Amino acid sequence: EKGGYDYFMLKEIAEQPKAVADTLLGRIDAAGSLTLDEVRIDAAELRETDKVVIVACGTAFHAGLIAKYAIEHWTRIPCEVELASEFRYRDPILDARTLVVAISQSGETMDTLMALRHAREQGARVLAICNTNGSTIPRESDAVLYTHAGPEVAVASTKAFLTQLVACYLVALYLGQVRGTQWGDEIRAVIRDLSRIGGAVERVLETMEPVRELARSLAEKNTVLFLGRHVGYPVALEGALKLKELAYMHAEGFAAGELKHGPIALIDEDLPVVVVVPSPRGRSLLHGKIVSNIQEIRARGARTIVIAEEGDEAVVPYADHLIRIPATPTLLQPLVATVPLQVFACELATARGNEVDQPRNLAKSVTVE
Ligand code: M6R
Repeated sequence: EKGGYDYFMLKEIAEQPKAVADTLLGRIDAAGSLTLDEVRIDAAELRETDKVVIVACGTAFHAGLIAKYAIEHWTRIPCEVELASEFRYRDPILDARTLVVAISQSGETMDTLMALRHAREQGARVLAICNTNGSTIPRESDAVLYTHAGPEVAVASTKAFLTQLVACYLVALYLGQVRGTQWGDEIRAVIRDLSRIGGAVERVLETMEPVRELARSLAEKNTVLFLGRHVGYPVALEGALKLKELAYMHAEGFAAGELKHGPIALIDEDLPVVVVVPSPRGRSLLHGKIVSNIQEIRARGARTIVIAEEGDEAVVPYADHLIRIPATPTLLQPLVATVPLQVFACELATARGNEVDQPRNLAKSVTVE
């Protein structure tokens, strides 16, 4: 049932182009607009929403962090993202105009379930983004958007993450569409880009051999750092989480702008540092900033592993290893930038002799608080 792959994780990584296409299936009409009729929350209610709060754990939380950028940009509604395990213990401010989005692959994560119960008790609407039909979290929510990734067996989340991102973009774009923001043209263009994103993920998968080789060469290392800015920051966090759970290595993700506020002290000769570079188009200011971050860490002897768009030449002089990803609109970049990090962690785990699908101390679904 592993479909010829050594591990479920490899199979699930390979399934991602289809999984993201399945998340979109039937949700974009012939005119290029979104039809999320299944989200039974009334359009009038969505127009009234004055705050979005995302609750989730682990990888799903990283999807939520990325969603915040998309929701705030396309809808201009303030969005908070919180670890579900922290949420209800701080007396969060919620009312009938708050839309709480609970993201969970399994739909059974106790922390996320308790957070959504708390939100509903306070009168908030809850929308679940979930992969498991009929599980507890969607059953207890006001509405659900299923990711349709198919069963995810490996403990490390891969295709569920990519499809959670697609679902989050759909929610953000739908909110924008319903509310009619200034970004109408951009929203239509992004829906088009999103419908082609499966092909871009496929292209990344076809070019992963050098990433696997690089991973094997780092099997003896103790630490890997991950840096990113904007939506690349949660991608860095996700890359670090994958490496922790699979390779049992010390890995940390940082916002690259924070380097000089502390983490740069960690930079050492030959320390592998993975940097997720935003598109040089569009937000070029951001791009220039991260190029100087790469220069700074390289000047201190780090081994730079740079994930950058095809055609981005500015990073070439500072990259010890360059991983190319297809050009995508900035907000969608996590869909392609995360894939090499999944492959990297999986290969490092294999090289270190670890059990890929069933890492030590972890369960696929965490049903205790
Ligand atoms: O089933 P959920 O999406 O609610 O699970 C949340 C986390 O436990 C999960 O994403 C975990 O962090 C993964 N093992 C990460 O790969």
